[in-house]
Amino acid sequence: MKILVADYIYTPTGFVENQAIAFTETIQAIDSIEVLQKKYPEAEIIQTEANSVIYPGFINTHVHLEFSANKTSLKYGSFMPWLDSVIEYRDELMGECNNEVMQKECDVMLHSGITTFGAISSFGNELEVCEKTPQRVVFFNELIGSNAMYADMLYGDFMERVKASQSCEESSRITPAVAIHSPYSVHPIILQKAVNVAKQNKLPLSAHFLESQAEREWLEKGTGELKGFFEKFFNTSTPVTNIEEFMFAFDTYPTHFTHCVQATKEELDYLADKGHSIAHCPRSNRYLGCGRLNIEDLNLPCSVATDGLSSNDSLSIFDELRAALMLHHQAPMQELANRLIRSVTSDAADILGLNCGRITEGKLADFAIVTLKEKPKREEEIALWTILHTKEVSNVYIEGIKYV
Ligand code: BEZ
Ligand code: FE2
Repeated sequence: MKILVADYIYTPTGFVENQAIAFTETIQAIDSIEVLQKKYPEAEIIQTEANSVIYPGFINTHVHLEFSANKTSLKYGSFMPWLDSVIEYRDELMGECNNEVMQKECDVMLHSGITTFGAISSFGNELEVCEKTPQRVVFFNELIGSNAMYADMLYGDFMERVKASQSCEESSRITPAVAIHSPYSVHPIILQKAVNVAKQNKLPLSAHFLESQAEREWLEKGTGELKGFFEKFFNTSTPVTNIEEFMFAFDTYPTHFTHCVQATKEELDYLADKGHSIAHCPRSNRYLGCGRLNIEDLNLPCSVATDGLSSNDSLSIFDELRAALMLHHQAPMQELANRLIRSVTSDAADILGLNCGRITEGKLADFAIVTLKEKPKREEEIALWTILHTKEVSNVYIEGIKYV
């Protein structure tokens, strides 16, 4: 048993002062240090630095590790030139992205307090790194392929990867999962088969959806910039599905949809009605010229996530939260800061179906300890000061073990 003491603890009922947490792999009790010491006299006491706040470990629900080598290769500013540059540099970037590069980025995430991440994997190359990294990893095996001719082969390869990730479940902190690349890049037949795999095995399910205006136009009218892309690279000029058909394919299983920047109010309401959620990637959306997700209108659970280094400049969750504060410039500051912290803790845990993300009895002992520069003058500003001032967290615990 260990007892962690801090000036503040972020709990589901708000920030509490002068309390402590008793934990093994899971949280056993939250109370004053005096009460906990009496209850657990043998426990090791860990005193955090002055002005520290214990948060549940942060959760980044959507990242592509396999693009970690990108710095200046991919074209930012607008979605289609970016997608063209992905096709042009994909092999080169994947080649440069070895285990060492990916592990380094897992460490960046760890030092920003991320104790769980959702890794979108198109080839399974990240599996070894995700087995070794201390974090919990929801390993999203991604299905891609719009050409019916190759559909069976691509589906077969996808299933092999699903099985490989399932075989790591016991010996690591990996949860196997399924990702659908997007409506424009996955044939509806294999899409439905993959959704069924997720449903039958109760695996988390995710899909990129309505990221760009080009995607919307292609799915609605079969025109626009994606038409030229498909003619050039895939020798086809008609989309394989439309917005409704794609959305309906997920009707019976809650799915984590990434981006949705170009979704209408009706589409967002439909997703909400079916129990789905959104991964909001503010820097990725800005860098690819996709626009701003109207988070103020959402009535469904929403996480904030970094996406990969293919559309970002770092995998730090604090860099992402600061960007979100700037992108949503019209939102009341304190409320937004509190909502953002929730979006990377309890909301993200609920979305991924994990027993972490909250400091309450029985939850996994995953903690990120943030040390503020001085005592906050007003308690209602702790979330904001945390986001604005934290470059790296002071300590990280996962399942009760200290990693930072
Ligand atoms: C496809 O298979 O249709 C596809 C793959 C990558 C990007 C876009 C489309
Ligand atoms: Fe993504």
